[in-house]
Amino acid sequence: MSPVFLALLAGAFSLLCLYLYLKHSYWKRNGIPTVRGCVPLLGHTLPIITKRMNFSEFTRLAYEENKDHSMIGIYNGTRPVLIVREPSLVKTVLQSNFSNFHENGFKIVPEVDPLLSKNPFFCYGEAWSTGRKRLTYAFSNVRLKTLFAAVSGVCKKFEEFLNGRLKTGNKYEVDMKKLFLRFTGEVVANAGLGIEGYCFEDDAGASAFHSLAGNTFAESLGTIITIYYPSINRLLKLRFLPKSVDRFFRKVVSENLNIRRNDSTPRNDFLQLMIDMEKTGEVIDEESVSAHAVSFYIDGTETSSITLNFISHNLAAHPEIQEKLRKEVRSTIEKHGGLTFEALKDMTYMNQVISESQRRFAGFGFLQKICTEEFELQGSDGLTYRIKPGTEIVIPVSGLHGDPKYWDNPDVFDPERFNDERKQTIEKMTFLPFGEGPRICVGMRMALLQMKACLATLLSNYKLELSPRTQLPLKMSPHYFMSEPAGGNWVYISKL
Ligand code: HEM
Repeated sequence: MSPVFLALLAGAFSLLCLYLYLKHSYWKRNGIPTVRGCVPLLGHTLPIITKRMNFSEFTRLAYEENKDHSMIGIYNGTRPVLIVREPSLVKTVLQSNFSNFHENGFKIVPEVDPLLSKNPFFCYGEAWSTGRKRLTYAFSNVRLKTLFAAVSGVCKKFEEFLNGRLKTGNKYEVDMKKLFLRFTGEVVANAGLGIEGYCFEDDAGASAFHSLAGNTFAESLGTIITIYYPSINRLLKLRFLPKSVDRFFRKVVSENLNIRRNDSTPRNDFLQLMIDMEKTGEVIDEESVSAHAVSFYIDGTETSSITLNFISHNLAAHPEIQEKLRKEVRSTIEKHGGLTFEALKDMTYMNQVISESQRRFAGFGFLQKICTEEFELQGSDGLTYRIKPGTEIVIPVSGLHGDPKYWDNPDVFDPERFNDERKQTIEKMTFLPFGEGPRICVGMRMALLQMKACLATLLSNYKLELSPRTQLPLKMSPHYFMSEPAGGNWVYISKL
C-alpha cells in the first residue's frame, strides 16, 4: 500500500472519528445527561437491532436508570432524541404546547403508502383536523350504539366458536392474542365494513380477515426502517402496509360500493358513514373510502387484541379478581336483561381492570413526537433545553406506568387503583395508555366498547386459567415494536 493511500485512509478515519465525536457529544454540549450504552455510529440502537429488547423496553430501562433527571438524551444512530421523564414536561409536549409538537415521530411515505396517508395518526394541519373530526363523529355515543348491534353479533359467533372448541374436551388451551385477533378482526369486518370476516372459521384460510393482521404487523426490514429510521425511509421509500393488504382493501371497498349502488338497504356500518362523507354530488372517492377502511382495520384490530391479551393474562393469574369481575358481568347482564350497550356502560369494575392491565402492560410503551416550532423545555431539576424543529421526543409511557414515585407497589396488579376515589389521586400524565392531549386516541370509546363486549362474553360463561406454557414472569418480546409476551400468553379456557 502506498504511503499516500495510507495517509488518506488515516485522514478519512480521523474525520469520521471527529464527525462521530461531534454527533455523539451533542447532548453533553447541551447540558442534557446521556443514557449509557452509546455505540459509535449506531448510537443507542444496538440492543434493538440485535433483538435483545424492543424500543419500549429500552425506554423503560433508560427511564428507570435515570431517576434524578427530568430529561435524558439518546442517539438513534447519530440523530439526537430527547426522552422527557417528568409529567409536567409530558404535559407541555402532549397538551399545553401542542402546536410546538403536533407531529408524530412514526412516519410513512405518502406516495408509497397512499392508503395510510389519510389516517389522522400520519397527518397534520388541515388533513389531520378533518380526519379527526370525522372519526370523532363516527365514534360518538349515538354512532357507537348503532355499531354495537354488529359487535353483539360478533359476541354470539365468539361464543359458538368457544363452545365448538370445548366440544371435544374440558379445556381449550390457546395463545390468547390469536383468539382475540379473531374477535377484533370480525368486528372490523362486520361493524366496520358490513361484510363477513370468516374469522371464526378454521377452513377460511387466507380469506379470513384476521389472517391479514399477521401480514401487516409482522416485523420486517420495511417496518423496522419506517418505525425507527423515518429519515432513511424518505430515501428508500419502503412501504409499511404490505401490497397484499393494500390490494385486499381496494378490492373489498370496490365490491362493496358496487353492491351498495344497486341495493338500497339502509346500512349502519362505519364504511357507510365514510361513503356518505366522501360523496361529492354523486361521485364517491373510492381511494379515500379504501383509506378509511384500512384505518379502521389498522387502528382497531391489533391494538385491541394486544390489550385484551394482557387483560386475559392478568385475569387468569388472579382468580379472585376474575371472580369479582364475573360477578359484576353476570349481575349487570341480569339487571339489563341481556348484554346491551347500556349494560356494558354499567360495568365499572371492568373499566378498572382494563385500566390497571394497561398500566401494567401498555400496548404502546412509548410515544414519539416531533418538535415543529422552537421551544424552551425546563425541568424541575434545573435542566433547560431549547428544542429545535425536527428534533424527536420520546414519552416513556411504560416507565411512567411503573414508577414507584407515582404508583405504590407498581408491580402489583391492583384494579382498586382506578376506583372512583383513588382515581382522583393519580398524578396527571403518568397514565397514558391512549396518549393525551389533542392527539389522544380518537378510537378509545370504540376500543373500550369492543373489549368490554368481548370480556363480558368470555367471563359470563367461561373460566380462564394460566397454562404452564406461559413463561413467567412475563417478558416482552424483542421481536415486535408493540408489546407482546415472549413465548405467548397461553391460557386454558373451560366452561363454567
Ligand atoms: C385498546 C386499543 C387501543 C389503544 C391502546 C390505542 C392507543 C392509541 C395511542 C397510544 C395513540 C397515540 C396517541 C398520541 O399520540 O398521543 C392512538 C392514536 C390513534 N388511535 Fe388508537 N388505540 C386503540 C384503539 C383504537 C381504535 C379501535 C381506533 C379506531 C378504530 C383507533 C384509532 C386511532 C387513531 C385514528 C389515532 C390517531 C389520532 C391522532 O393522531 O389524532 N385506536 N391510539
